[in-house]
Amino acid sequence: MTRIDGHLLDQRQSEAGQRCAALPDLFDATTFRHLERLGVGPGWRCWEVGAGGISVLSWLAKRVGPTGRVLATDVDTAWVESAARPPVEVLRHDVGADEAPGEGFDLVHARFVLADVAERERALRSMVQALRPGGRLLVEETDSSLQPLSCPDEHGSAQRLANRLRAGRRALLAEDGTDVSYGRKLPRLLRDAGLTRVEADAHFPLGAAACAALETAGVNRVRERLVASGFATDTDINLHLDHLASGSLDLAPAPMVSAWGRNP
Ligand SMILES: C[S@@+](CC[C@H](N)C(=O)[O-])C[C@H]1O[C@@H](n2cnc3c(N)ncnc32)[C@H](O)[C@@H]1O
Repeated sequence: MTRIDGHLLDQRQSEAGQRCAALPDLFDATTFRHLERLGVGPGWRCWEVGAGGISVLSWLAKRVGPTGRVLATDVDTAWVESAARPPVEVLRHDVGADEAPGEGFDLVHARFVLADVAERERALRSMVQALRPGGRLLVEETDSSLQPLSCPDEHGSAQRLANRLRAGRRALLAEDGTDVSYGRKLPRLLRDAGLTRVEADAHFPLGAAACAALETAGVNRVRERLVASGFATDTDINLHLDHLASGSLDLAPAPMVSAWGRNP
């Protein structure tokens, strides 16, 4: 690998890390509320798919205690290795391609993973099959078409620019094969997979400080492509990044749809 490739890879990993780092602040409270309602407790065996970071793992580890098990899988385990001590185990695993890393789980959970996985149907099937009878599945995914705006209160040029860049990013995601309407499909997909007692809700923060961090990482990740595809100029992007740094925008990430159900 050349030095330039290495540099780009490091940069991409750091942007992915910044994006994942902003998620706990914005979404953990909702995720923990759902996990709590599903009854996660001492002795539970959990599979955290596409774990990405340690906040959900730490919450699960505390809940299941020393008699439980939390298996954290990801195609890139760099961000979760530090949590690898009982009851947490870490495994490199591609949920769209590999066999399920076990069976008989009381809980399988994935957040912000499946919409980006090309083999998402296969992945969901394998997650359901890994549940014990009576086990619970919680899947939480974005639906960026459901609420497509970066600034829902579009009252000036800064907000219009933000929304134009968000539309460009959504088009690039769709071009890459991300299902940008995946969140809304989850209740149906969980029922089709044979789960019972399926329910769902949606959450999107508005104006939280962490929204700017998520937006900044998201824009930086695709800035060259936004320019190359004609969605924005470098000047537009620099201006938007300045607006983000100034804290003057009331930002919203794409909504997170949470859907859960029970293996009969
Ligand atoms: C946006 S991050 C979300 C991280 C974490 N689940 C959260 O909500 O904070 C997406 C994660 O899914 C992982 N991922 C992407 N494709 C995957 C696949 N096919 N199998 C397993 N993990 C995958 C990425 O490496 C990344 O850690």
